[in-house]
Amino acid sequence: MSWSIVLPALLQLGLSSALSIPHSLDLDSNQSPFQFDAPNPADLPHANPTHSFWTHSPGANPLAGEGSTGPLTGQADVCIIGSGITGVSAAYHLANAVESGVFPSTESGKVSAVILEARDFCSGATGRNGGNLTPYAFGGFGKLQERFGTDAALRQFALEHYSATEMARIARESGWADAVDLVEGGHVDIMLNDSDLAKAQADFFAAIFAGKDINATWFSQEDMNATYGTYNWGVRSPGYNLWPLKFVTQLYKSTLGITPRLDLRLHTRTPVTAVSPLTAAASNRRWRLATPRGAVLCSTVLHATNGYASHLLPQFAGPENGITPVRGQVLAVRAETQLPVPSWSGNEGYWFPRPQTASEDAKPLVILGGKRSVAGPPYEMGVTDDGVLTESVGAALRNFLPEMFPGLYKFGVEPEAEWTGIMGYTALEIPFVGPVLSNATADLHDTTFKGQYISAGYHGHGMPRAFGCAEVVVRMIADERAGWDSPSALPEWFPQPFLTWVRDKKGPEA
Ligand SMILES: Cc1cc2nc3c(=O)[nH]c(=O)nc-3n(C[C@H](O)[C@H](O)[C@H](O)COP(=O)(O)OP(=O)(O)OC[C@H]3O[C@@H](n4cnc5c(N)ncnc54)[C@H](O)[C@@H]3O)c2cc1C
Ligand SMILES: *[C@@H]1O[C@H](CO)[C@@H](O)[C@H](O)[C@H]1NC(C)=O
Ligand SMILES: *[C@@H]1O[C@H](CO)[C@@H](O)[C@H](O)[C@H]1NC(C)=O
Ligand SMILES: *[C@@H]1O[C@H](CO)[C@@H](O)[C@H](O)[C@H]1NC(C)=O
Ligand SMILES: *[C@@H]1O[C@H](CO)[C@@H](O)[C@H](O)[C@H]1NC(C)=O
Repeated sequence: MSWSIVLPALLQLGLSSALSIPHSLDLDSNQSPFQFDAPNPADLPHANPTHSFWTHSPGANPLAGEGSTGPLTGQADVCIIGSGITGVSAAYHLANAVESGVFPSTESGKVSAVILEARDFCSGATGRNGGNLTPYAFGGFGKLQERFGTDAALRQFALEHYSATEMARIARESGWADAVDLVEGGHVDIMLNDSDLAKAQADFFAAIFAGKDINATWFSQEDMNATYGTYNWGVRSPGYNLWPLKFVTQLYKSTLGITPRLDLRLHTRTPVTAVSPLTAAASNRRWRLATPRGAVLCSTVLHATNGYASHLLPQFAGPENGITPVRGQVLAVRAETQLPVPSWSGNEGYWFPRPQTASEDAKPLVILGGKRSVAGPPYEMGVTDDGVLTESVGAALRNFLPEMFPGLYKFGVEPEAEWTGIMGYTALEIPFVGPVLSNATADLHDTTFKGQYISAGYHGHGMPRAFGCAEVVVRMIADERAGWDSPSALPEWFPQPFLTWVRDKKGPEA
């Protein structure tokens, strides 16, 4: 076990009081209660989204309009809807599965796949988030344990650790870690008061007692003042940040080179407007995707549409058993000096200073998001319009850093970019991974949607989860293709409750 404690208050507060309050340190997801009445399916992605720093910095999105003109691919073995971290990770895992033989080739010896994207390449949440790739160290452990049991709680943390370290490894070993601005250097969670501190400690001890290995360093208010120029409690744990769109772009390009036996196409600006069954018995194509450019016939469909999933799958509408679109807001603003830790969260915000090159004269740019609660009910829930900003959230974000770091940030500095994006929230705060089912109570015998799969609904915390979830869902697609009537064993890092046929049958034994 490799954790160190430099906080006498840990012992003063005592374990019994600390353990009584399970709590989550989610980045964006702890900002307000999940209470929202929205049975309507999501709209398609909005046609004119705000411009994010990530998508609209010059040269940042070379694949923006890839495959948006010319002939549309008419059919494919695997059709992936959505080109964010989920959809492109799925293509990556598919290529590896084809190369290794886990995914059987057809008689032609080839497997065909197509990614369909409604707007520009990777212009959903992955192109519009805060850039944190932070696998939680222990935050939220108590709540997860209570809800899903110890094994599933530990697996959630293992999945995040696996996804984040794999993404970093791929970027490093492929030689594009610098090109995607990957920074490894830790994450600091701040706690404003004794009760926040007690909650964090409760999670910490619950995770330790469950046997989790934790690398965390606690800081007193005095330490935080001396070290970071702010006045709160803090806890530092490993974490990364990166330029998510650039990561996804490089991952897509790498995927094209994995195996000549996968024929992978990408069509941006091609929204899928409906999925309907094909009945012609002669064909192994089971589903027809309608787009304004024509139809695509598919053997298997993967919904990698996150907050928008219920547009094509209305059974995912509504907060109880579905995926609710929720709008988050982010801005990019200059600071006087560089903060010494690359990634932060707390006080309903998440922020990180962009890495600076030695040659750069400009003051460091900080990406900051959060403060959704100031929008008031319904807290930006049930909306898919990322073409507008919310004024109250913008005002709170403008004052956030000057209040938190007096001296390092000035009041009245206007951001250089400000944008919104759509997350996918779920009542259990976990994604849906697996075959699409008719409804929340259906089980694996439900074949109404056979051949359609989903990995979506990361509850504002998809960067360290989507890669691993995509791997598991691609494995299920490969199993079905190989003729298995049920999926093979899950990796030891994958939590059972994420499975579409498990999650709503409450309790860890389900
Ligand atoms: C403001 C904000 C801040 C965030 N901050 C963080 C953070 O700091 N750390 C973190 O871990 N997570 C964060 N998240 C969440 C994270 O970005 C998401 O969980 C993750 O990007 C989801 O990836 P995805 O590929 O599943 O979805 P997306 O990136 O949204 O991709 C889905 C894609 O599907 C496309 N699509 C949808 N419907 C259709 C259709 N019918 N036809 C064709 N295409 C379609 C969309 O256009 C979109 O490109 C944040 C999200 C937002 C919005
Ligand atoms: C840090 O401590 C000094 C000395 O006590 C104090 O003047 C200053 O206001 C503190 N800074 C913050 C951000 O709390
Ligand atoms: C612990 O995390 C810190 C970052 O917070 C990192 O610098 C250090 O190398 C880690 N130690 C171990 C043993 O992983
Ligand atoms: C502690 O801070 C949190 C915000 O992080 C706030 O919601 C809570 O009311 C505060 N508690 C006390 C006792 O001040
Ligand atoms: C849920 O789906 C199953 C399988 O299609 C069906 O038998 C059942 O009636 C559905 N239940 C509800 C409540 O719609």
